[in-house]
Amino acid sequence: MRFQNTILVLFFSLFISTLCKNDDESAAVFISSLSSSSGHLTFALSASDPTVSQDVFFHISGPSSYSYIGIGTGTVMQGGLMFVMYSNATGDGITLSSRIATGNNEPVFSPTLDIDILPGSNTSNGLMTVNARCKNCLSWSSGALNLSDTVYPWNYALGPNTAQNVKLTSNSPSACLEMHVEYGLFTLDMTHLTMGAGALPTSFTSPIGSRASGSPVLTSNFPTIIHAVLATIPLVLFLPTGVIFLRIFPGSVRWHWVSQTVSSVIGLFGAAVGFYLSTWFNKSKSFSSGHQIIGYIICAGMIVQWFLGFWQHRIYKQKQSPTKYGLIHRYLGHFVFVLAIIDGGVGLSWSYTASPVIIGYSVAVGVVAIVHFSLVAWKRWEKQKPHGVGIFEIKTQQNSPEADRNL
Ligand code: HEM
Ligand code: HEM
Repeated sequence: MRFQNTILVLFFSLFISTLCKNDDESAAVFISSLSSSSGHLTFALSASDPTVSQDVFFHISGPSSYSYIGIGTGTVMQGGLMFVMYSNATGDGITLSSRIATGNNEPVFSPTLDIDILPGSNTSNGLMTVNARCKNCLSWSSGALNLSDTVYPWNYALGPNTAQNVKLTSNSPSACLEMHVEYGLFTLDMTHLTMGAGALPTSFTSPIGSRASGSPVLTSNFPTIIHAVLATIPLVLFLPTGVIFLRIFPGSVRWHWVSQTVSSVIGLFGAAVGFYLSTWFNKSKSFSSGHQIIGYIICAGMIVQWFLGFWQHRIYKQKQSPTKYGLIHRYLGHFVFVLAIIDGGVGLSWSYTASPVIIGYSVAVGVVAIVHFSLVAWKRWEKQKPHGVGIFEIKTQQNSPEADRNL
């Protein structure tokens, strides 16, 4: 009896181990803990015998707090095939988008791949999961998966997961992506893939035939932040301060001139960073969106303002009387200031910034605008008062008669 039991146990163990072996050898599984959140990313890949079918099956899952989860081939973005998943428009399902990147910029949707989304794909309980079958993926013309490579390179990238960003939810496979917050590289032993029957991997609980290449890398979208800071602060804060230098305190043309020149140069540099940034995203590559067009008008306005100010000052010194250039300079200046306020808000919503940040921005620029226009109106009212000479007027007249009368 004892002998029989031993034989039974041995037989059973052999059966189980054979089953597990089948699992192990029909898929490669990569599991990684993440640097930018607690949670795991899982990628499991299987394929049938290439002599029978060219289909590839895969499973991707990870925290749904990320805007997107992308898995790509290769060690760099350029030229790799990427599977990018994100929540659908209602936030409970999945959109899977096959994309190709031309470099370190937003990958472009590639409709040439025929991908079926399989059951079990959804967004729930804090997880995004996709099970998919990529038809004829092995013979995909733009880059074959090498099934004999034991260290085939792959990468992953995770979209923004911070409170400052609106989470991506879309049904469109070409939805706009923002820069990732983290990426990582790994290799898969592709020889595992061809041994199974050609179905979705069944076990993703432990890594199989995979290895992380180095540690995950946290990325920052500092060019966007530099653009936002350098284009916004000089235009919506320093430009009006330069008007106060002229009109209120210390009432000096020189202070005004220096301040507006410095603000414009920084603002133009910030806009130039915006030009560079535009090459990153599909939405901005054509340089023709509303935010960019308003930006061009502001840049042109700043340059024209500088020359108008310079020219009017020159003529004033010769004639000692106001010029029409001064009038245009005054109103164009206010126009550029208001446009910059608007464009900053348009830029924030265009880059999927969360509402609290946009509300904070609106309140801050609203306060600056109210203070600025109130002071300018008060100054003008004081000037026009019959027989009255206000305190600010004495100050500006002492420092520069031109400032008060003409600019
Ligand atoms: C809007 C979308 C994206 C933008 C603007 C973008 C931009 C960039 C930039 C600027 C870098 C260089 C970062 C550095 O050196 O610190 C980079 C690196 C990287 N990205 Fe992306 N990326 C995007 C989407 C993706 C996606 C979807 C994936 C993968 C599925 C990915 C994978 C990688 C990898 C693996 C690297 C490191 C290797 C390399 O420099 O190519 N990226 N990306
Ligand atoms: C001159 C006035 C401008 C102002 C005040 C301004 C301001 C802003 C702001 C506040 C953002 C949001 C950034 C963020 O979310 O952190 C933004 C985004 C952006 N701006 Fe501008 N901008 C200006 C001009 C331009 C110009 C001339 C261009 C290019 C031609 C440009 C290209 C962009 C791009 C591509 C983004 C999107 C970045 C993303 O999606 O992450 N901007 N801008």
